[in-house]
Amino acid sequence: MGLEIKNLTVELCTDGHNCINVADSLFLTINEGEVVSIVGESGSGKSFLGLSILRLNPPRISNITSGEIRIKCKSQDKEIDILKLNPEELIGVRGRLVSMIFQDPNTSLNPVMKIGEQITEAILAHKKVSKKEAIDTAVLYLDSMNIDGKSRFGSYPYELSGGMRQRVMIAMAMVLHPCFLIADEPTTALDVTTSLRVLKLIEDIREKSNIGVIFITHDLTVARSISDRIYVFYAGQVMESGNTEDLINNPAHPYTVSLIKSVPFLSTDYTPKQRLFTIPGFITKDDFSKGKCRFYSRCFKRDENCLTDISISSFEGGRDVRCIKVKNV
Ligand SMILES: Nc1ncnc2c1ncn2[C@@H]1O[C@H](COP(=O)(O)OP(=O)(O)O)[C@@H](O)[C@H]1O
Ligand code: SF4
Ligand SMILES: [Mg+2]
Repeated sequence: MGLEIKNLTVELCTDGHNCINVADSLFLTINEGEVVSIVGESGSGKSFLGLSILRLNPPRISNITSGEIRIKCKSQDKEIDILKLNPEELIGVRGRLVSMIFQDPNTSLNPVMKIGEQITEAILAHKKVSKKEAIDTAVLYLDSMNIDGKSRFGSYPYELSGGMRQRVMIAMAMVLHPCFLIADEPTTALDVTTSLRVLKLIEDIREKSNIGVIFITHDLTVARSISDRIYVFYAGQVMESGNTEDLINNPAHPYTVSLIKSVPFLSTDYTPKQRLFTIPGFITKDDFSKGKCRFYSRCFKRDENCLTDISISSFEGGRDVRCIKVKNV
């Protein structure tokens, strides 16, 4: 049982001909009951990846050019490839097998529709149940997210706090019992306490329903707290992946090393009052281009040997690293 992404490439063409691979030959696996984080800074293509799994990537500017997204849940007879489904079959996958919590709860909920009605509508669109049954289920799911379902059913999104809106989104994502959940930066817009509550909710859901979670975040500390495995993502490619604690305690790729050094809680050589390490520069469109390591412009170890496409290598202990300088982990 699991979700397997094989050789996924997604092209993004913003002005018709100037195209980049915003996801480039990606291989990822997520087992049922496992939380896997995709970690990388803003602009690295994490949301595109999440959207592409459900084929929700913006159609006018982007195109899935190759790959397979194979999924097998307990509720299915056989494995399917999401990329081969017709539009009707795709509706049966979205929400039912794979759900997504979108990056911004403020814009993902319909502002002029009561939250209870939004959840009820999602149930009625997929299940043959009466309106009363759908309403009862919506109330139950709001309750399970620590929102009083009965009194809040008729609230509009603007009447809720950011944390409550995010929990409504989670209720909506879970109401059809998917076996995989994609959570795109679900805590980024929240304060620390609310963010911890949302993380705890996701952990509870994983435990109770044995769901597989793809947790997208720019925050390595959050990824460490919630995930079994981490994929470190940069400019549309996986730079390194491995078991969470192994990867944090023994990073191999210069980008992972730099990310960890820039987080005081994770860095082993940081002392208070010391100036915190920062990775020079920003991610740019040029980083997505071919013919060089995508991290080249910002890497502290780069040399002329890195001016070629770099493939990913597998090491013992389930670690994969994309760097020619890493010979062992
Ligand atoms: N609607 C869009 N139009 C054009 N470019 C976009 C659009 N959305 C994202 N991009 C570009 O695609 C790249 C990846 O974006 P995204 O997947 O949103 O990154 P992340 O989620 O990691 O912050 C970025 O370089 C971004 O500028
Ligand atoms: S291949 Fe070169 S530029 Fe890329 S991460 Fe390794 S050392 Fe840095
Ligand atoms: Mg994003």
